[in-house]
Amino acid sequence: MKLSNTILVVIYLIATNNALAQSQYNIIPKPNKETARTGNFELNTKTSIYVSKTNVETQKVAHLFAAELRKSTGLPLPVKLYASQNGITTNTIVFHYEGKMKEHDLGKEGYFMNLMHDRLMIYAETATGNFYATRSLLQLLPAQVFSSTKQSGIKWQIPCGEIEDSPRFPYRGLMLDVCRHYFPVSFIKKYIDLLALHKQNTFHWHLTDDQGWRIEIKKYPKLTEIGSKRKETMKGHYTDQAYDGTPYSGFYTQEEIKEVVQYAKTRFVTVVPEIEMPGHASAALAAYPALGCEAKNYEVATKWGIFTDVFCPNEKTFSFMEDVLSEIMALFPSQYIHIGGDECPKEAWKKSAFCQELIKKENLGDEHGLQSYFIKRIDKFVTSKGRKIIGWDEILEGGLSPNATVMSWRGIEGGIAAAKEKHDVIMTPTTYCYLDYYQATPKQEPLAIGGFLPLEKVYGFEPIPDALNPDEAKHILGVQGNLWTEYIPTSEKAEYMVFPRGIAIAEIGWTNKDLKNYADFGNRLKTHFKRLQFLNVNTCKKAYYDIKANSTSQNGKVNISLNNADTETMIRYNTDGTTPNANSMIYQNAIKIDKNTKLRAATFSKSGEILSNSLEREYFVNLSTGKNYTLTNQPKGYTGGETYALTNGLKASELPSDAWVGFDGKDLEAVIDLDSLQSIKRVSIAFFKSSGQWIFQPKKVEVYLSEDGKTYKLAEKIDMDTNPPAKAGIDALAIGIGGEKARFVKIFAENYGNLPENHAGHGNKAWLFVDEIGIE
Ligand code: ACM
Repeated sequence: MKLSNTILVVIYLIATNNALAQSQYNIIPKPNKETARTGNFELNTKTSIYVSKTNVETQKVAHLFAAELRKSTGLPLPVKLYASQNGITTNTIVFHYEGKMKEHDLGKEGYFMNLMHDRLMIYAETATGNFYATRSLLQLLPAQVFSSTKQSGIKWQIPCGEIEDSPRFPYRGLMLDVCRHYFPVSFIKKYIDLLALHKQNTFHWHLTDDQGWRIEIKKYPKLTEIGSKRKETMKGHYTDQAYDGTPYSGFYTQEEIKEVVQYAKTRFVTVVPEIEMPGHASAALAAYPALGCEAKNYEVATKWGIFTDVFCPNEKTFSFMEDVLSEIMALFPSQYIHIGGDECPKEAWKKSAFCQELIKKENLGDEHGLQSYFIKRIDKFVTSKGRKIIGWDEILEGGLSPNATVMSWRGIEGGIAAAKEKHDVIMTPTTYCYLDYYQATPKQEPLAIGGFLPLEKVYGFEPIPDALNPDEAKHILGVQGNLWTEYIPTSEKAEYMVFPRGIAIAEIGWTNKDLKNYADFGNRLKTHFKRLQFLNVNTCKKAYYDIKANSTSQNGKVNISLNNADTETMIRYNTDGTTPNANSMIYQNAIKIDKNTKLRAATFSKSGEILSNSLEREYFVNLSTGKNYTLTNQPKGYTGGETYALTNGLKASELPSDAWVGFDGKDLEAVIDLDSLQSIKRVSIAFFKSSGQWIFQPKKVEVYLSEDGKTYKLAEKIDMDTNPPAKAGIDALAIGIGGEKARFVKIFAENYGNLPENHAGHGNKAWLFVDEIGIE
């Protein structure tokens, strides 16, 4: 870039940054139209809140808002009812009325605000819109407004301007699993408050599962007497297969449920209850064994995973379900009733003479047809009561039930299929919406289920797939984040996993697509972190400040560039493997290396506070670094992001989403061209092992050498069956060669093949994960 261009760009950046600072408020989710003006409205001891005598629902909004404001400001803020706005003077917050505005189409949840220095005017068609206006007003005040105790010395100012705002999608939600771990009512209310703050309108409450039935059902008391208790719980990771030996229990009484539903209602949050069927039924079967297909003792599950103990589709089960759902529908006014439908193994149905006969009698074809039969009967019942079922995308198997809405979780494909069949869809794919996945460097994070889902990736989710035409796209009702709680035993950890990623999901659901901008989101998020601190929310700030590294390699040299999303911080790094501190080198330009290097980097504030996890990268520089290679089989789900990840110099870490090259059921056969004859002493290669993620070590590894790329000679063969690796993780094989001359090195690693019989994924092929082929 020429100097003149550089200067222009710098001027442009300064200009746009200033423009950005002036033209927007730090509201999350970002309002769809906002115009800031100079000047402020200031709350003081004389400020009053006005609401129409006839708008009863908005009166409740006004009272809630006033109560919230009084806690931190200590101001009286009386709520006054008006018959006409004529007499209303200055220093007022006025809810205009609930009703249509001529100038603005606000819809059911939108609002318009004219923020003047002497009064705040709020307009909406509904009390919901008025409530969302108050969520924005709170965010226009200093962050201290979110404190639960009186804050002194603060000017309670709201900047002048106009905001016109309404949501992109009608469904905006978060799910919480209270079965793997139970969370107290106080936390459920806090979760609902946070949903409301971010203008999310649905709390999906996952109430029943193998590890616990957590809602009182009057007609079936054993569901909680027996089904809410397990004798112990897995500790550590699933792969550790260790248990804590401590009984665990907890459930919500119907009185508590009513209290939560009412609490949510006043915050315009709908609670959608989930009662799992036909799978994830161990706890229910432990209470009522006759609902299973087998005559045996069922137990509330103590470990995580998928269980073959499922409801039997007999008349006893259907009347049980109808009774349970009747009590559920009496407690939850929600239009949607979630009936689960996911992960229902078919073994018990295959073995059951009753099920096999039913399949024949009803002409269902197979067990998938039987699952569809089950869901359709429940659909009919729920629909007859004026409600709608919603289910995980497995309810597509064997044919979708006529009135079902689909929650697409195994990717977006289920959602696409359902929308094409004109069924409504909520998008919640694991790849973007599973908030139980790691959000920052796993080694430095509290234990999580696995995966890797950083904040920026969540923010990048677009709920409407390209594959849908505009009519089909209308069936995508919205987006939801899911928090499964196998590895989340406390409220604090739940908050840590959900925030800030759940806030990114809120913005995806609310803000128009063309206004989405991660850098802008990050800028607002920094202010929002302060608000969440006053709300005592345990946020994972690192999720925003973490560093990304990219590298390119060529002929034994690697160039590493580092970046984080934030422009007000600096990155410091060390190349000797030690943790960076406030005196480490400041990152400015790409780091160039030509030898083995352990890079550590972290984000620092200007004052020297460490804000991120410490990035750890190991670079292995040798004869193969940056060299081309050919592959017989192509990798799938290739996550390295670089063309030559096997020889790019970067060693993949313990993170499965790192620079591993993955072969789905196939072997690795790579030929590396070193460009000239070299004397080869050693070849090394690493394999990842994580049984739970279906990643297995190869059966054998062979190394061949060639001078001309035509004739190959076997140099070494390692039988991995007789040299089984010690534990999960990375196992690098170092294969001695003895100084033989070659230009071409061929490496063959045989895929493990079919998953073993005792594996949950038995019947599928294993993944082979390979990285960094070193040649010395
Ligand atoms: C799910 O994650 N089993 C819906």
